[in-house]
Amino acid sequence: MANVKVIYGSSTGSTESAAALIAAAFGTEAVSIAHAEMEDFEADLLILGSSTWGLGELQDDWLSGIAMLDSLDLTGRKVAVFGLGDQNGFPDTFADAMGILAEKAEERGAAIIGETSSAGYAHSISAAEKDGRFRGLALDDNNEPEKTPDRIGRWVEQLKAALA
Ligand SMILES: Cc1cc2nc3c(=O)[nH]c(=O)nc-3n(C[C@H](O)[C@H](O)[C@H](O)COP(=O)(O)O)c2cc1C
Repeated sequence: MANVKVIYGSSTGSTESAAALIAAAFGTEAVSIAHAEMEDFEADLLILGSSTWGLGELQDDWLSGIAMLDSLDLTGRKVAVFGLGDQNGFPDTFADAMGILAEKAEERGAAIIGETSSAGYAHSISAAEKDGRFRGLALDDNNEPEKTPDRIGRWVEQLKAALA
Protein backbone atom coordinates (compact mmCIF):
# COMPACT_ATOMS: atom_id res chain seq x y z
CA MET A 1 0.00 0.00 0.00
CA ALA A 2 1.47 3.32 -1.04
CA ASN A 3 2.21 5.89 1.61
CA VAL A 4 0.01 8.91 0.83
CA LYS A 5 0.11 12.22 2.70
CA VAL A 6 -2.31 15.12 2.34
CA ILE A 7 -1.29 18.63 3.43
CA TYR A 8 -3.65 21.58 3.05
CA GLY A 9 -4.12 25.24 3.88
CA SER A 10 -7.63 26.52 4.60
CA SER A 11 -9.01 29.76 6.04
CA THR A 12 -12.76 29.13 6.19
CA GLY A 13 -12.89 25.33 6.04
CA SER A 14 -13.62 24.49 2.40
CA THR A 15 -10.17 23.18 1.57
CA GLU A 16 -10.05 21.43 4.93
CA SER A 17 -13.26 19.52 4.09
CA ALA A 18 -11.96 18.56 0.65
CA ALA A 19 -8.65 17.47 2.16
CA ALA A 20 -10.48 15.27 4.68
CA LEU A 21 -12.45 13.54 1.90
CA ILE A 22 -9.32 12.98 -0.19
CA ALA A 23 -7.33 11.70 2.77
CA ALA A 24 -10.13 9.34 3.85
CA ALA A 25 -10.18 7.83 0.35
CA PHE A 26 -6.54 6.87 0.92
CA GLY A 27 -7.14 5.67 4.46
CA THR A 28 -5.21 8.52 6.03
CA GLU A 29 -5.77 11.89 7.70
CA ALA A 30 -5.02 15.30 6.29
CA VAL A 31 -2.59 17.66 8.01
CA SER A 32 -2.92 21.44 8.02
CA ILE A 33 0.20 23.21 6.76
CA ALA A 34 -0.18 25.37 9.88
CA HIS A 35 0.87 22.32 11.95
CA ALA A 36 2.89 20.32 9.41
CA GLU A 37 6.40 19.04 10.09
CA MET A 38 9.05 17.98 7.62
CA GLU A 39 8.20 14.29 8.03
CA ASP A 40 4.63 15.01 6.86
CA PHE A 41 6.08 15.63 3.40
CA GLU A 42 7.66 12.17 3.15
CA ALA A 43 5.37 10.05 1.00
CA ASP A 44 5.10 7.96 -2.17
CA LEU A 45 2.38 10.40 -3.15
CA LEU A 46 2.25 13.84 -1.60
CA ILE A 47 -1.07 15.65 -2.11
CA LEU A 48 -0.99 19.41 -1.53
CA GLY A 49 -4.04 21.67 -1.39
CA SER A 50 -4.66 25.39 -1.01
CA SER A 51 -7.50 27.82 -1.48
CA THR A 52 -6.69 31.05 -3.30
CA TRP A 53 -6.84 34.38 -1.45
CA GLY A 54 -6.06 38.01 -2.22
CA LEU A 55 -5.80 38.08 -5.98
CA GLY A 56 -4.21 34.78 -6.88
CA GLU A 57 -2.28 34.23 -3.65
CA LEU A 58 -1.66 31.15 -1.55
CA GLN A 59 -3.83 30.67 1.52
CA ASP A 60 -2.32 32.43 4.58
CA ASP A 61 -0.85 29.39 6.34
CA TRP A 62 0.87 28.34 3.11
CA LEU A 63 2.55 31.74 2.84
CA SER A 64 4.83 30.74 5.71
CA GLY A 65 4.56 26.97 5.17
CA ILE A 66 5.91 27.21 1.64
CA ALA A 67 9.41 27.55 3.12
CA MET A 68 9.19 23.87 4.09
CA LEU A 69 8.35 22.88 0.53
CA ASP A 70 11.18 25.09 -0.73
CA SER A 71 13.71 23.20 1.38
CA LEU A 72 12.73 19.69 0.23
CA ASP A 73 14.33 17.47 -2.36
CA LEU A 74 11.39 15.93 -4.21
CA THR A 75 13.43 14.51 -7.07
CA GLY A 76 11.53 11.65 -8.67
CA ARG A 77 8.67 11.91 -6.16
CA LYS A 78 5.00 12.07 -7.12
CA VAL A 79 3.04 15.14 -6.09
CA ALA A 80 -0.62 15.95 -6.81
CA VAL A 81 -2.27 19.31 -6.14
CA PHE A 82 -5.82 20.50 -5.54
CA GLY A 83 -7.25 23.96 -5.09
CA LEU A 84 -10.40 25.68 -3.95
CA GLY A 85 -11.47 28.91 -5.62
CA ASP A 86 -14.37 31.02 -6.86
CA GLN A 87 -14.54 30.90 -10.65
CA ASN A 88 -17.32 33.52 -10.89
CA GLY A 89 -15.99 35.98 -8.32
CA PHE A 90 -12.34 35.69 -9.37
CA PRO A 91 -12.41 34.58 -13.03
CA ASP A 92 -8.90 35.87 -13.75
CA THR A 93 -7.17 34.26 -10.77
CA PHE A 94 -9.24 31.10 -10.40
CA ALA A 95 -7.50 28.57 -8.18
CA ASP A 96 -4.14 30.23 -8.85
CA ALA A 97 -2.73 28.87 -5.58
CA MET A 98 -2.94 25.33 -6.99
CA GLY A 99 -0.68 26.48 -9.82
CA ILE A 100 1.77 27.99 -7.34
CA LEU A 101 1.96 24.70 -5.41
CA ALA A 102 2.51 22.70 -8.62
CA GLU A 103 5.24 25.07 -9.73
CA LYS A 104 6.99 24.96 -6.34
CA ALA A 105 6.86 21.16 -6.23
CA GLU A 106 8.25 20.94 -9.77
CA GLU A 107 11.07 23.31 -8.84
CA ARG A 108 11.97 20.84 -6.10
CA GLY A 109 12.09 18.00 -8.64
CA ALA A 110 8.66 16.42 -8.22
CA ALA A 111 6.63 14.81 -10.98
CA ILE A 112 3.10 16.25 -10.97
CA ILE A 113 0.35 13.68 -11.44
CA GLY A 114 -3.44 14.09 -11.42
CA GLU A 115 -3.92 16.83 -14.00
CA THR A 116 -7.56 17.32 -15.06
CA SER A 117 -9.50 18.90 -17.92
CA SER A 118 -10.50 22.52 -17.34
CA ALA A 119 -13.48 22.20 -19.68
CA GLY A 120 -16.78 23.02 -18.02
CA TYR A 121 -15.44 25.69 -15.66
CA ALA A 122 -16.51 29.34 -16.20
CA HIS A 123 -13.20 31.06 -15.40
CA SER A 124 -11.15 33.07 -17.92
CA ILE A 125 -7.60 32.78 -16.62
CA SER A 126 -5.93 30.54 -14.09
CA ALA A 127 -2.29 30.20 -13.13
CA ALA A 128 -3.17 26.57 -12.42
CA GLU A 129 -3.99 25.94 -16.09
CA LYS A 130 -1.56 24.78 -18.73
CA ASP A 131 -2.51 23.76 -22.29
CA GLY A 132 -6.21 23.56 -21.41
CA ARG A 133 -5.68 21.41 -18.36
CA PHE A 134 -5.51 22.13 -14.67
CA ARG A 135 -2.33 21.01 -12.93
CA GLY A 136 -4.55 19.18 -10.45
CA LEU A 137 -8.10 19.18 -9.15
CA ALA A 138 -10.00 22.51 -9.14
CA LEU A 139 -12.92 22.72 -6.73
CA ASP A 140 -15.41 25.56 -6.32
CA ASP A 141 -17.55 25.33 -3.22
CA ASN A 142 -18.76 28.91 -3.72
CA ASN A 143 -20.59 28.13 -6.95
CA GLU A 144 -20.63 24.36 -7.46
CA PRO A 145 -20.51 22.62 -4.07
CA GLU A 146 -22.71 19.82 -5.40
CA LYS A 147 -19.98 18.82 -7.86
CA THR A 148 -17.24 18.51 -5.25
CA PRO A 149 -17.82 14.92 -4.04
CA ASP A 150 -17.91 13.49 -7.60
CA ARG A 151 -14.91 15.54 -8.68
CA ILE A 152 -12.96 14.26 -5.70
CA GLY A 153 -14.09 10.68 -6.31
CA ARG A 154 -12.98 10.70 -9.95
CA TRP A 155 -9.68 12.36 -9.09
CA VAL A 156 -8.86 9.87 -6.34
CA GLU A 157 -9.47 7.01 -8.81
CA GLN A 158 -7.15 8.73 -11.29
CA LEU A 159 -4.44 9.06 -8.63
CA LYS A 160 -4.83 5.45 -7.50
CA ALA A 161 -4.47 4.29 -11.11
CA ALA A 162 -1.32 6.40 -11.49
CA LEU A 163 0.11 4.86 -8.33
CA ALA A 164 -0.66 1.27 -9.29
C1 LIG B 1 -10.96 38.15 0.00
C2 LIG B 1 -11.08 36.92 -0.86
C3 LIG B 1 -10.19 36.75 -1.92
C4 LIG B 1 -10.30 35.63 -2.75
N1 LIG B 1 -9.47 35.51 -3.85
C5 LIG B 1 -9.65 34.48 -4.72
C6 LIG B 1 -8.89 34.40 -5.92
O1 LIG B 1 -8.04 35.25 -6.24
N2 LIG B 1 -9.10 33.32 -6.73
C7 LIG B 1 -10.02 32.36 -6.45
O2 LIG B 1 -10.18 31.41 -7.23
N3 LIG B 1 -10.77 32.42 -5.31
C8 LIG B 1 -10.61 33.44 -4.44
N4 LIG B 1 -11.36 33.50 -3.30
C9 LIG B 1 -12.32 32.43 -3.00
C10 LIG B 1 -11.78 31.40 -2.00
O3 LIG B 1 -10.63 30.76 -2.48
C11 LIG B 1 -12.89 30.36 -1.75
O4 LIG B 1 -13.92 30.95 -1.03
C12 LIG B 1 -12.38 29.11 -1.05
O5 LIG B 1 -13.41 28.14 -1.06
C13 LIG B 1 -11.94 29.34 0.38
O6 LIG B 1 -11.43 28.13 0.88
P1 LIG B 1 -10.91 27.94 2.38
O7 LIG B 1 -12.11 28.13 3.24
O8 LIG B 1 -10.42 26.56 2.44
O9 LIG B 1 -9.85 28.95 2.63
C14 LIG B 1 -11.27 34.63 -2.47
C15 LIG B 1 -12.13 34.81 -1.38
C16 LIG B 1 -12.06 35.92 -0.58
C17 LIG B 1 -13.03 36.07 0.57
